[in-house]
Amino acid sequence: MVTLTGRSALVTGASSGIGAVVAEALAAAGARVGLVARRKDRLEQVLARCREHTPDSALWTADLADLDGIADLAATVERELGGVDILVNNAGMPKRRRVQDTSPADAEEVMRLNYLSPVRLTLALLPGMISRGRGHLVAMGSVAARLGPPHEAAYGASKAALTAFWESMAVDLDGTGVQVHIVQPALIAGTELFTLPGNEEPLSDLSDALPPQDVADAVLGLVGDGGFERYVPGWFSEMASGKAADVDAFVAGVKEWTRDRLAP
Ligand SMILES: NC(=O)c1ccc[n+]([C@@H]2O[C@H](COP(=O)([O-])OP(=O)(O)OC[C@H]3O[C@@H](n4cnc5c(N)ncnc54)[C@H](OP(=O)(O)O)[C@@H]3O)[C@@H](O)[C@H]2O)c1
Repeated sequence: MVTLTGRSALVTGASSGIGAVVAEALAAAGARVGLVARRKDRLEQVLARCREHTPDSALWTADLADLDGIADLAATVERELGGVDILVNNAGMPKRRRVQDTSPADAEEVMRLNYLSPVRLTLALLPGMISRGRGHLVAMGSVAARLGPPHEAAYGASKAALTAFWESMAVDLDGTGVQVHIVQPALIAGTELFTLPGNEEPLSDLSDALPPQDVADAVLGLVGDGGFERYVPGWFSEMASGKAADVDAFVAGVKEWTRDRLAP
């Protein structure tokens, strides 16, 4: 188990679901945690649990889809929390609808929150990490980044963009002391992602969903061992490599699976 005493961590989307559990896990490992999301009342509940471990933990409310506000948020956090050692870019939104039902505005909305916003926050906090010669940049991806999920083209594209950025960043930052990690969860229970309005019912069977603690374990595992990517559950990496070996067969299989799911 990694020990983070004396370190600070910033978790976006910490008011519910995966982010709340990751924040608590980082605090339990000893990190002073900063929480960011829009709902203050929900953040306060998570903060109270974090402060049982690290009383200096704090929260900031922000709409991360407002890209122009991110540089100020980063400066405020660095001033009030101290330099950020671990950034967990977790805030995100779903966009479950067939491509025929997706508008250009839908595609831009999900790209803004799931891709452009973590990139802005990362670039704002990176100079501090480089100057201190240490840091961890964590992204919450999705298996959708690698596996082209049905009825989630815009969402999958946002996570694929994030993953591509993270891969190149891992190489570019070689030798700086700043480490780069991405978690690719499959179905995770206990979050609001599957009940948010404006989305189709999920095609997948949610009874297969794993607890958010599994994602928190993956985050702490990557921070501890310096690895780049971890799937939750781990066997999804075999599905991703199977797809890479034969994309045509993969797409044909997903079409068949989707027809079965939609059959009356
Ligand atoms: N659940 C899964 O099966 C699953 C699988 C793969 C990947 N993921 C990824 O995991 C991450 C967390 O999702 P979750 O499942 O835990 O869902 P969730 O419970 O809906 O959490 C989303 C978090 O993002 C925050 N957020 C949303 N819009 C925001 C905005 N404009 N500004 C600031 N914060 C915002 C929400 O807080 P406020 O509403 O308070 O702002 C909330 O804290 C997402 O990136 C998601 O894509 C989830």
